[in-house]
Amino acid sequence: MYLSRLHLEHFRNYRELDLCFSAPVTLVQGRNGQGKTNLLEAVYYLATSKSRHARTEREAVDRAAAAEPIPYARIRGEVVRRGESTTLEILFTLRGDGLNYTKQIRVNGAPKRSMDLIGHLRAVLFLPEDLTLIAGSPSERRRYVDIALCQIDRSYCQTLSRYQKVVTQRNSLLKQLQEREQAESHSAAAQLSFWDDQLIELGTQVLARRHTYLAQLAPIARRIQAELSQEQEQLALLYLPSFNSGLYSDADYQRLREGEEIGAVEILGLEVEAATIGRRFRERLESRRGVELKAGSSLYGPHRDELVFLVNGWNLRTYGSRGQQRTGALALKLAELQAMAEATGEKPVLLLDDVMSELDAQRRAALLKALADVRQGIVTTTNWAQFSREFQQEAQLLQIEAGVATPSAGAL
Ligand SMILES: Nc1ncnc2c1ncn2[C@@H]1O[C@H](COP(=O)(O)OP(=O)(O)OP(=O)(O)O)[C@@H](O)[C@H]1O
Ligand SMILES: [Mg+2]
Repeated sequence: MYLSRLHLEHFRNYRELDLCFSAPVTLVQGRNGQGKTNLLEAVYYLATSKSRHARTEREAVDRAAAAEPIPYARIRGEVVRRGESTTLEILFTLRGDGLNYTKQIRVNGAPKRSMDLIGHLRAVLFLPEDLTLIAGSPSERRRYVDIALCQIDRSYCQTLSRYQKVVTQRNSLLKQLQEREQAESHSAAAQLSFWDDQLIELGTQVLARRHTYLAQLAPIARRIQAELSQEQEQLALLYLPSFNSGLYSDADYQRLREGEEIGAVEILGLEVEAATIGRRFRERLESRRGVELKAGSSLYGPHRDELVFLVNGWNLRTYGSRGQQRTGALALKLAELQAMAEATGEKPVLLLDDVMSELDAQRRAALLKALADVRQGIVTTTNWAQFSREFQQEAQLLQIEAGVATPSAGAL
């Protein structure tokens, strides 16, 4: 699977761009603020229908174009897969309110839902800020897992989106109950039990899928971390749910929640049966009813889960050095690449946004090895000199300046 062509109109700082990708690796050089990240974001949009960082679609549209009579932005790409070409398109148009934008998706010209775009082009994007994933907040790590899983499993994405709606609804009910203090009333109890059922049903599916994904990802990440650390660092990547879904013994679960020096954790079964997860989820909701009512929000379920990284039995988030945390993040990204290839039978496109400068020689080499192994990689840099003569000779070289890309001879 690879992207053979990319066309942009009014996307961020690109007025109009037409690019053909002519080599397995495209190396894009540009000074700060010229459009390197924007280019990768456009490709990532085609893969996921979402931006990695933009909060609104509005940000995607060229600020200058927003003043035109009919403002819009377009991302179009040709994806070649097993010899067949598919055209993917995202069109951003202004809504009636004159403020926000809507996305229209087309696949080979036919209108589709966002959800149906996913899977035509798979991409793993690696941004410099991913190197801080381990030190960051739990929500970043959940988001990270969700984005990776959505590309592998479209039905997961649908379930997750339904689950998130249920959480919102249930939260607003809990909030109302908290304000009115009428938790004891009959109808309130009935309403809550309706939302409990929804939460448990969808949440269980989300959890079960995340469990199997982590079971696949963890051994790969462990191997990569060992390689990167000359066998010094044993990485255990663990999924830590907001209630013990059955992955661990109660004692281990408690240690994971509280401890910092955790030592070895025994995983009881990689794939917990949905029935077990559901039963334990219900038990948790019932035993913590009062706590949730007091908080006025949903405290249990996959929206509150966590990923734990242990290195040699110690929590990497609290005890790891910055370098170890970065190695862990890199191992996670490289594992994602491999897990996605294994799960789908196709290698995803690897998008690397100026990450080389953040890594030491050894970790750089690991990334270059991964790059050599994919069908397509698009790599950005501010500095040609970060890449060897051999690398540059084999790559398609582009230079970006103020949203205009031109072929370049690089700098040898
Ligand atoms: N909606 C938009 N309309 C117009 N310009 C935009 C829009 N969004 C972002 N930009 C501009 O795009 C430019 C390029 O941003 P981008 O993040 O791609 O740069 P970069 O080449 O990755 O730089 P760096 O090396 O600093 O990461 C910035 O100057 C930014 O202000
Ligand atoms: Mg950038």
